[in-house]
Amino acid sequence: MQDIDALRDELLAQVDGATDEAALESIRVAALGKKGSISALMRGLGKMTPEERQTAGPALNGLKNEVDGAIRAAKARLEDAALDARLARETLDMTLPVAPEDRGTIHPVSQVIDEITEIFAAMGFQVAEGPDIEEDFYNFTALNIPPEHPARQMHDTFYLPERPDGTRKVLRTHTSPVQVRTMLNSKPPLRIIAPGRTYRCDSDQTHTPMFHQVEALVVDEATHMGHLKGCIEAFCRAFFEVDEVKMRFRPSYFPFTEPSAEVDIGCSRKGGEVRIGEGDDWLEIMGCGMVHPKVLEHGGIDPAKYQGFALGMGLDRIAMLKYGAPDLRAFFDSDLRWLRHYGFAALDLPTLGQGISR
Ligand code: DAH
Repeated sequence: MQDIDALRDELLAQVDGATDEAALESIRVAALGKKGSISALMRGLGKMTPEERQTAGPALNGLKNEVDGAIRAAKARLEDAALDARLARETLDMTLPVAPEDRGTIHPVSQVIDEITEIFAAMGFQVAEGPDIEEDFYNFTALNIPPEHPARQMHDTFYLPERPDGTRKVLRTHTSPVQVRTMLNSKPPLRIIAPGRTYRCDSDQTHTPMFHQVEALVVDEATHMGHLKGCIEAFCRAFFEVDEVKMRFRPSYFPFTEPSAEVDIGCSRKGGEVRIGEGDDWLEIMGCGMVHPKVLEHGGIDPAKYQGFALGMGLDRIAMLKYGAPDLRAFFDSDLRWLRHYGFAALDLPTLGQGISR
């Protein structure tokens, strides 16, 4: 028994004195490994008389557990200390100026979203959001596009696997589902815009599988096409930073609006460059219309009391147009040279007062 006490004192002292994990590991091997001192004593149990074994057995086991526990605790202590030291060593001074070569930029699409938000916010619109992975119901059915409706085929939809109840989610093919989500979670009058990512299974020089749209929705008790037209006109003047914009409304069809129109704005294409606010050419920029009564109903709004208008616009193409980026695919290549060239300074926020794009 004396052996055991002496060995315990010696081993615990060694553990206490260990300053790194390697030292602890060699103490462990020397005590508890196959040829270790404690293991040797354990082997001695076999040669003892049963009476001797009755006291020596538990004592040895106790020693083994105690030493093992002390080693584990010391290891944890050392690990904590190492982490503390590393955290102290790797602290960053957030107040230091950023090195010029590390400076990030705002992507033209983000810039255009900021500009549009600023313009619509000044007209009393709030920003609303919906999920990119959307229920088939909100993306189609609630927008008056029931299953089997031919408009579904035009959307090149990415479908997620069907669930046991037969329903499936989709990557939203437009920002219009946010219309119904907003109607269901707030009360009219409504004025919202919903910028965000949209997805269609389509890829060539002018289409990427992921692209961006902005949706606008107004619901009130006396809303009409004149309001829609005025709103779009005000938006175009502010966004393209011109005093007059020539506009034309072409009759069109969308299942979720009635009547529906597509909006073209006047432009010139001299020398292959599109200029807004001059020339005799036309550029299609958005779809719009009066919200279909069925869509209001799906949104829990009484169409006998309320009407609304909505519009949807692709953002990538107008960002290209406004900032002169020639190739859509380059928008999403994450090429740092491109981003530095076409990106905007982070603190250069668009405001109506200072000029939207300065
Ligand atoms: N969601 C339509 C699309 O992706 C665009 C659109 C058209 C949105 C008319 C609207 C609208 O809100 O009124 O192609």
